[in-house]
This record gives sequence, C-alpha cells and structure tokens, in this order.
Amino acid sequence: MNATLVRKVTVTAFGIAAAVVATVAATPAPRTELVVYKSATCGCCNKWVDYLRKQGFSVVAHDTSDMTAVKAELGVPDALSSCHTAIVGGYVIEGHVPVSDIARLLKEHPKVVGLSVPGMVTGSPGMEGGVPEHYKVVAFDARGNTTVFASY
Ligand code: CU
Ligand code: CU
Repeated sequence: MNATLVRKVTVTAFGIAAAVVATVAATPAPRTELVVYKSATCGCCNKWVDYLRKQGFSVVAHDTSDMTAVKAELGVPDALSSCHTAIVGGYVIEGHVPVSDIARLLKEHPKVVGLSVPGMVTGSPGMEGGVPEHYKVVAFDARGNTTVFASY
C-alpha cells in the first residue's frame, strides 16, 4: 500500500505543476487538482471536499481504512493530525484548512511539508454549525517544526 501511495503522490505532484502554472494569477487557484485521502464514513471530510470543489478545486478523493498509514507516509506529525490528508502542488494539507491558505501556500511556495489545522475545529471549513472557535493554520517542516501560517 505504501509503494502505491508514493507512486500516486509522485504522479500527482508532476501533474499539478502544469495546472498551478496555468492558474497562478487567480486566487484561489481554480481547477487546481487536489488529491484527498479520507475514511469512507467521515461526514466532515465530505463537507470539506464539497467546499473545495465550490471554490474551484478539482478534487480526487480516495477512501481508505488506514489513515494512520497515509499520515505516516506523508510525514504528518501526530500532534498535527486531523481527519483527512490531502496533497496539492507537492504540499500536504492536513485537516480543515481554508482555501485562501492553500492558495497562498501555492503562490508563496515556502519550504515546508505542508499546512495543518490540527484536530477538528468548529467553524473551520467543513465544520460549520455550532459556535465557531478560534483556530490557527500551522505550517510544518520535515522535522516537525511548526510556524503559525494564519489565525482565525
Ligand atoms: Cu473533519
Ligand atoms: Cu476530514
């Protein structure tokens, strides 16, 4: 399963380079392809996917029963883990990250592994309903170092 995943990620990263170049002027990058791994029974994951599609992303969703393996494979630190894990433009997107931050990540191209909204925060995209909580989007590197990318 790991070898298959790596192959998929590699293919995806190459495929995206062209898509990103074509859409770099627009924010948020419409038609940018994003691959997401999620469990079949996760309702909020589906809501996040719907949100991305409405914002113009082309989303390829894969259901898996072993999200732990996916997160380990893609280098998501345990402390930053959420429900779904996505890949876009060679970056890892963990959890309910807003589209504006993904667009900024793709535009600024920092040297990080990806972005995360750790846990499941009420009021983040796909987690609407109830009283919205404040939350941070963090960028993380391969050693698990984090910096605050955005605050809501
Ligand atoms: Cu969720
Ligand atoms: Cu999810």
